[in-house]
Amino acid sequence: MSAERERAIVDQVPAGVLVGGEWRPPTGDKTFPVEDPATGAVLCEVADATAQDAIAALDTAHEQQAPWAATPPRERGEILRRAFETMTERADDLALLMTLEMGKPLAESKAEVTYAAEFFRWFAEEAVRIAGRWSTNPSGDGRLLTMRQPVGPCLLITPWNFPLAMGTRKIGPAIAAGCTMIVKPAQLTPLSMLVLADILRAAGLPDGVLNVVPTSKAGAVTEPLFADPRLRKVSFTGSTPVGRKLMEQASQNLLRVSMELGGNAPFLVFADADLDVAVDQAIVAKMRNMGESCVAANRFHVHESVADEFAERLAEKMSAMKVGRGTDPGVQVGPLIDGGQRDAVRTLVDDAVSKGAKVLTGGEDVGDRGYFYAPTVLAAVPADADLLRTEIFGPVAPVATFTDDDEAVHAANDSEYGLVAYVFTRDLGRALSVAEALEVGMLGLNRGMVSNPAAPFGGVKASGFGREGGAEGIDEYLAVKYVAVDL
Ligand code: SIN
Repeated sequence: MSAERERAIVDQVPAGVLVGGEWRPPTGDKTFPVEDPATGAVLCEVADATAQDAIAALDTAHEQQAPWAATPPRERGEILRRAFETMTERADDLALLMTLEMGKPLAESKAEVTYAAEFFRWFAEEAVRIAGRWSTNPSGDGRLLTMRQPVGPCLLITPWNFPLAMGTRKIGPAIAAGCTMIVKPAQLTPLSMLVLADILRAAGLPDGVLNVVPTSKAGAVTEPLFADPRLRKVSFTGSTPVGRKLMEQASQNLLRVSMELGGNAPFLVFADADLDVAVDQAIVAKMRNMGESCVAANRFHVHESVADEFAERLAEKMSAMKVGRGTDPGVQVGPLIDGGQRDAVRTLVDDAVSKGAKVLTGGEDVGDRGYFYAPTVLAAVPADADLLRTEIFGPVAPVATFTDDDEAVHAANDSEYGLVAYVFTRDLGRALSVAEALEVGMLGLNRGMVSNPAAPFGGVKASGFGREGGAEGIDEYLAVKYVAVDL
């Protein structure tokens, strides 16, 4: 990839904060740097929004809420459809920008652009299907009418690991439902979101419906919004500790809340599993996004009769993966997002090894610039290793063993998290009873990927609540109103 093309892509990013349809300099005129995690070099400076910018964004979101809610659903849907088409046409540029700011290999960025755009296509189709209900009172006396209306101005807080898709799966349903919004993109990866905002403007989104406030001071910018009764909803994707704090803040004004938080996905391989499928899908579940995903397989619980073979075959595949800058041809594993994340991964691996785990491959940093960590497989991981309880967010696969189904289910559920689990077995009865017993919001049965714009994404326990995508996704942005009708 030529340096000129990379420069040209970064230069396309709009400068400023987006408030009321206008890119304006932030109050105070400060900026913050965005780094390429593959090199540590600064890609560009981004406008650093302040609390005043956030309140200006809420002023306009509040002002536009009623006219936007009254815009015909078909028009709202067509804006999303046009944005889907532009994203698809510009997929190569969007993917390159994403790789530069986030580090994932180009092929994965391209897959994320498709995934992200599909949320717009999906919710373009949902915008025209917001229906209510008309029924007869059980006593026969009068009628019951329900309607579903937009909840009002929303604050959408998106994470750094999927810079576009985590935005579109909040923005898409908010637009479809008729809500206005303020988006706070992640400080580490704001560039893709800034370009996405321009795509939505060009698709015809009225001024003030979408406002974007990139910032290096998340708390200072979001706290005044939580305190303002004009804000009606918050949707957050990020860590469980931050989610807990935001829940507290949201309680002040009793905001509607959606929380998509951390995970600790168990990947269960039973003795009767097709091992070829299990190993291939383990790569998908573990290595997508370098393991920096809340749905990444975090721990492999494998029946003792096949654990050695599974671990060896996984190690063979992981060690063959090409590590490097995501823009380079053939690279399959990019850098981690920053030095702090790499330190955290290294600490977890060192802890497991000190407690007796065996390194089959990896277990070390790679290169002398950027934040690379080698794809790592650990066998014979003891139950007290920290990484079995902690979200790793890195390319590390710990393999532990179980002897029977009850032990497997118990180990899988022995976590504060409950986002997703992966189950590999050829026995349908076992598959369904294990699926029923697992405490998760999603389950991959003989597959390592559950994410799909047409399906409800979300967790239970400390992984949060609310669903994004699917027929359920738009409900998060709608309030039910009931009318008691006397005929
Ligand atoms: C996440 O890691 O937060 C979401 C991943 C996905 O949507 O697949």
